[in-house]
Amino acid sequence: MQLRIGQGFDAHKFIKGKPFILGGVRLPYEYGLDGHSDADVLTHAIIDSLLGALSLGNIGTWFPDNDPKFKNADSMELLKKVLLHKTFKAWKILNIDSTIIAQKPKLSPYIEQIHSNLAELFSLQKNCISVKPKTTEGMGFCGREEGIAVLVNTLIIKN
Ligand code: CDP
Ligand code: ZN
Repeated sequence: MQLRIGQGFDAHKFIKGKPFILGGVRLPYEYGLDGHSDADVLTHAIIDSLLGALSLGNIGTWFPDNDPKFKNADSMELLKKVLLHKTFKAWKILNIDSTIIAQKPKLSPYIEQIHSNLAELFSLQKNCISVKPKTTEGMGFCGREEGIAVLVNTLIIKN
C-alpha cells in the first residue's frame, strides 16, 4: 500500500469589481479576489496539495500566471486538468481537509454548498472532504480583511 500526503497553501487579496468565487461557488460579497485567473483561492490550494503529493510542481508551473490563456480561467477547470494527468490515474484521493482563513465574509452559510460542489467534482463521499472557515481574530492580513488564505492537506493512495 502506497500513501502520499500533500500540502497546499494560497492567499489572494480582495479587490472590487470581480466575482467572489470559492471552491467553484460564486458567493455574494462586495469584493472578489484579485488574480490572473478567477483567483479561487480554495481551489488553488487544493491543486497545490495534489501536485505536492506527487511532487509534480505547483499551480504556477502548470498554469503560468503570465500566460494569456489562463486569464480569468475557471480554477475548477484547472483542477480537472490536473486530475486528468496520467500520473493521477494510478492514484485515488482518500481525503481532503481544508482551512479557509477569512475574517470576512462569514462563510458558514455557504460551506455546505462549497462542500457539496467539491464532493461532486471529486466523486468523493462528503465525509472525505472538509472545509473549515476560520478568522484570525483580527490579526494579520486576513484579520485586516485584506484578503483570504487557505491551507489544504490531501491524502492519496496508489490504486
Ligand atoms: O472560535 P475560534 O477562534 O476557534 O474560531 P473563529 O475564527 O472565531 O470562528 C468562529 C466560527 O465562525 C468558526 O467555527 C467558523 O465556522 C465560523 N467562521 C465563518 O463562518 N466564516 C469565517 N470567515 C470565519 C469563521
Ligand atoms: Zn491562487
